[in-house]
Amino acid sequence: MHSPSLCALIVTSLSVQLTEIFAINNVSHYNVFETAWSWSYVNYTWPSTEAYLTALATLRYVPENVMLAGPRIHNGKVYVAMPKFRSGVPATLGYFNILSSEAVNTLITPFPSWEKNTPEDCGSLQSVIGMEIDRYGIMWVLDGHRASNALSGLQCPPKLVLLDLNAGGAVRHVFSFPNEICLTDGGFLNDIVIDDVVEIFAYITDNSPIDPGLIVYSLGKNKAWKFRDATMFPDLSAPNYLLDGSLVDVLAPIDGIALSPFTRKSPRTLYYTSLTGHGLFSISTAILKNENSLKDQKWRGLVKPVGQKLCSTDGMVMDSNGNLYYGLLCLSGVGKWNVFEPFEISEVIYSNPSTMVWPDGFTIDFDGNLYLLSNYAFRFAGNETLYFSPDVIKFRIHKLHDIGGVNYMYNTFERY
Ligand SMILES: *[C@@H]1O[C@H](CO)[C@@H](O)[C@H](O)[C@H]1NC(C)=O
Ligand SMILES: *[C@@H]1O[C@H](CO)[C@@H](O)[C@H](O)[C@H]1NC(C)=O
Ligand SMILES: *[C@@H]1O[C@H](CO)[C@@H](O)[C@H](O)[C@H]1NC(C)=O
Repeated sequence: MHSPSLCALIVTSLSVQLTEIFAINNVSHYNVFETAWSWSYVNYTWPSTEAYLTALATLRYVPENVMLAGPRIHNGKVYVAMPKFRSGVPATLGYFNILSSEAVNTLITPFPSWEKNTPEDCGSLQSVIGMEIDRYGIMWVLDGHRASNALSGLQCPPKLVLLDLNAGGAVRHVFSFPNEICLTDGGFLNDIVIDDVVEIFAYITDNSPIDPGLIVYSLGKNKAWKFRDATMFPDLSAPNYLLDGSLVDVLAPIDGIALSPFTRKSPRTLYYTSLTGHGLFSISTAILKNENSLKDQKWRGLVKPVGQKLCSTDGMVMDSNGNLYYGLLCLSGVGKWNVFEPFEISEVIYSNPSTMVWPDGFTIDFDGNLYLLSNYAFRFAGNETLYFSPDVIKFRIHKLHDIGGVNYMYNTFERY
């Protein structure tokens, strides 16, 4: 009696039992990563049909080349980045409305405007992959993907652009990184966290294959400095893995970062990991904030190896309770660890090789929902012409309801 339907029945009843077991332990909600939005290609809210058709005809817009990254949520809008790994990406930053949108192939509106996304102007956004929104509604945009300047033909320095979301995205500040901090040709500002309790600092990963490191930017001093260490390089011993039929053998440096919540007891801790490497590392922000730490080598001894993850990781985020959620690329899944516990009891809370291919950007909204975007980034960033058939879903924003905490910036200061 091994008919397919019986097998299906057994599998179904097994999963029902598992669900019940999970429910008993009250972790059932971990399994409910719902797909909130998905795309087989990215299209925009064009000013006119004519503009759309012209962009298509002139290859200014090549739909299959547009990749989504880094969602951030604020005041009913979901902001996304569209890094220019390939040609034909007409706008690199945009948003859609949470409520009024379709769940599939939602159109993206360029942000702050089409004009501010003009590729021919270094003053406009060139190629964005990451951003963060601070507690005052300022979006810190990393316009710092400079691995492929050849696409625009321009040599624009990487920059940090502060946009005021309470004023339609008005530009409040721009900081251009000097070449010795982030390379104009070959820099790759990738991920950012904001530490704004007393003075305001941003910690930024530079995923540059040439000069990787951890950049600290002080808003008060309007100055940046950079920590470079072996722990920020790709780990050559990390195994390759198969994803969707492709062998992923990328060698890439420091990428994902997360910041622990503020406590009165001790300075916050910054966590980081290389895109190639299972090691998770931490360093105290007291060291990072002090530019003089770089005057000698002592700080290197204060980098702590936290533990070994099961896979390499791209994005991660910490909530206000110190729970670190991180992507597990080789499992197409998500790991969770509470920083107040030993790393050994970290757990895999989700894995789905058919829907969560390359969990990339993570974020948490004000209501305590965790969102992450999976995007097949390895296919866009590599130089392989691995195109998908048009109807394949390439980008998904997954939502995990009610994780019991909010974004790391918003803890209640009295908690610890
Ligand atoms: C289970 O978890 C949910 C969500 O965190 C919570 O609302 C509920 O009270 C929990 N139930 C029990 C029995 O602990
Ligand atoms: C792209 O969006 C425009 C509206 O901005 C629409 O007119 C056009 O039909 C869309 N194209 C596709 C292929 O979805
Ligand atoms: C990518 O491949 C194409 C075709 O083989 C080649 O012309 C191009 O130089 C390559 N680009 C990079 C960045 O390696």
